[in-house]
Amino acid sequence: MIKAAITAVAGYLPENIVTNVDLEKIIDTSDEWITSRTGIKQRHLENDPKKATSDMCVEAVKLLCKKRGIEPIDIDMLIVGTVTPDMVFPSTSNLICAKLGATKAWGYDLSAACSGFIYGLATGSQFIETGKYKKVVVVGADMMSRIIDYTDRTTCVIFGDGAGAVLLEPSEDNNGIMDFILHADGNGVNHLHMKAGGSLNPASHDTVDNKMHYVHQEGQAVFKNAVYNMAEVSASIMEKNHLKSEDVQWLAAHQANKRIIDATASRMGIGSDKVMMNIQNYGNTTAGTIPLLLWDYEKQLRKGDNIILSAFGGGFTWGAIYVKWAYDGDKVKN
Ligand code: ACO
Repeated sequence: MIKAAITAVAGYLPENIVTNVDLEKIIDTSDEWITSRTGIKQRHLENDPKKATSDMCVEAVKLLCKKRGIEPIDIDMLIVGTVTPDMVFPSTSNLICAKLGATKAWGYDLSAACSGFIYGLATGSQFIETGKYKKVVVVGADMMSRIIDYTDRTTCVIFGDGAGAVLLEPSEDNNGIMDFILHADGNGVNHLHMKAGGSLNPASHDTVDNKMHYVHQEGQAVFKNAVYNMAEVSASIMEKNHLKSEDVQWLAAHQANKRIIDATASRMGIGSDKVMMNIQNYGNTTAGTIPLLLWDYEKQLRKGDNIILSAFGGGFTWGAIYVKWAYDGDKVKN
């Protein structure tokens, strides 16, 4: 069977950096609280009102093409995991392709919150495995600052803006996406959602006055579900593929909270030296976290490395993907 290999990775973060100390000036919080509860020290937030999620994605995909030596016209398909599309429709994917001149590609947005990238990667890999396409781009991107209430200290401290992208191509040597386990449970809706802007509560003066266009998160309930499910699904995919802890080189876990990531690593029996971590720099960029991790750690990745990608997010959605890395990252020029 043809396997789908990740053959390039790239990312983009807005220039503007907001530190915990900056947040201390606008809400009742402290660098100490945020750092000890979440591991976050700073986040990138887009401060140009004319920019949207597609603009971050365009930069990430441009770099992706440059690194792989291809043109946007070579892309067959582009899937975007996001909960902050530029508009309800058309899809962000369509807008990115138009801005890039990727006129041969088609694609769509995929709504799975923090699991958006792994849902997209699993989906995109199918189009390679069937032999239908040769170049599928999977993007995970969110401009969370546009749906966060910066007077709500329980949510605003954890989120950031960012985009990451990978290129999927047919594998030459059987490395690539080896397996995935994905889950969803819509009963989690009450704990994490955005109340308005959809067909249930279309935008109105009331929805704006009642702050219904912001993320509503019941942190503790989400935390409990995330800790349990991310750890379980990560251990399950190892078991299913007969991987022992010493067989796993890296864990690339969704960056929502350092404590959730540590619990997942502990359940998998792996040490902190194998855990990719950049939450301290970017916060929770929702669908952006996992491709941004791969981008940051690319230089350390070796062909044949066993990597477990793992995420939990609103929906509830969660899952894990087992990837055998397809190239030596230190040989890639940026
Ligand atoms: N600064 C200072 N104090 C704060 C802050 C803050 N920013 N936020 C909350 N507090 C206070 C609370 O008011 C509370 O005070 P009280 O005890 O006097 O009532 C106390 O700190 C503890 O609050 P908790 O909500 O219990 O804090 P918790 O330890 O749970 O941390 C957090 C909150 C960081 C949000 C955590 O619950 C979490 O990480 N949840 C999971 C997030 C997640 O994984 N989301 C999924 C992905 S996101 C997506 O899909 C879009």
